[in-house]
Amino acid sequence: MRSVCKWNPFRRLSKWVACCCIVLWGIGACNSQPTYQWHDPQTKEGLVCRQCEPGKFVEKHCTKHTPTVCKPCPGLYYTHFWNYLEKCLYCSVFCNSLEEEVQACNGTHNRACQCKPGYHSVSDFCVPHSRCPVGTGVTQPGNPLEDTKCAPCPEGTFSSSSSTNPCQPHQNCSEQGLAVNVPGDQFHDTFCTACRPNKPVGIVIRTDELSETEGCEEAVIDYIPYQIKAPRRLRRLRQRLSKSLLPTASHRKSVNQLQVELHSYLIQEKNTKGARDVAKKLMGALRDMKLQHILEKMQKHFLGL
Ligand SMILES: *[C@@H]1O[C@H](CO)[C@@H](O)[C@H](O)[C@H]1NC(C)=O
Ligand SMILES: *[C@@H]1O[C@H](CO)[C@@H](O)[C@H](O)[C@H]1NC(C)=O
Repeated sequence: MRSVCKWNPFRRLSKWVACCCIVLWGIGACNSQPTYQWHDPQTKEGLVCRQCEPGKFVEKHCTKHTPTVCKPCPGLYYTHFWNYLEKCLYCSVFCNSLEEEVQACNGTHNRACQCKPGYHSVSDFCVPHSRCPVGTGVTQPGNPLEDTKCAPCPEGTFSSSSSTNPCQPHQNCSEQGLAVNVPGDQFHDTFCTACRPNKPVGIVIRTDELSETEGCEEAVIDYIPYQIKAPRRLRRLRQRLSKSLLPTASHRKSVNQLQVELHSYLIQEKNTKGARDVAKKLMGALRDMKLQHILEKMQKHFLGL
């Protein structure tokens, strides 16, 4: 073949191209100029034509005497590979409302879309990223292809709401010159207090006594929710305080979640009605619910601060 080629290299274009490829294979020239078999309808001759590069299409196939004529694709059409197409391909991909365009339609590329920020792809649909449940934090934020990854909060950190954030470190009370009121866990922060009642052990703390010391009513509000460990009691207390029925979904919630929610509710109430009013109502509700042991525990706790 090689000798034939040398002997009469221009005898036939097809042979020449084929020979050229074999001869130049070693320096890779063939890779950059792919060819195709073409049967010339006029001369009935079998030819080897050059293909067109990406972004172009074959306007005219080669003949015995002329090379392939390639032409750039018109707007909204493309060819991605070396080709011998007589028409470019239509940019057929369209982004939907949950997607954004990451590749515009141009001569060499079809349009390409990916899920918008906040969404990822699940079998070709964009679905919102999951939030990490209470007590867990984001270890890897979601991206267009993958959902958020969550893990339980490690020692010394917490996440008190279903979120798209990593776990936060507990605050350090001693650094602020305060005492620990409620130690943090993976579901809630450490709560600090400046309350130091300094009463002799055994004396019943009443709300009017607590109010004499800075921050004690706030401390009661932070303390109580985390001392009640039965979901039923937490729900009943919350109902009694808010004087309304809770949505049935609350029956599926964990103790930790109910504690955090009761606490949030109390903080909200405190911000509108004042700490004194809320602490008083809270202690009254515990008495009515015959939860004396919680009140006793609280007295001991505050006297020990
Ligand atoms: C089309 O876009 C791609 C990347 O976005 C780029 O690499 C390529 O050169 C573009 N093609 C044309 C013909 O502009
Ligand atoms: C709080 O900070 C102090 C001083 O920086 C440190 O010794 C102590 O271990 C910290 N406590 C916690 C619970 O991180």
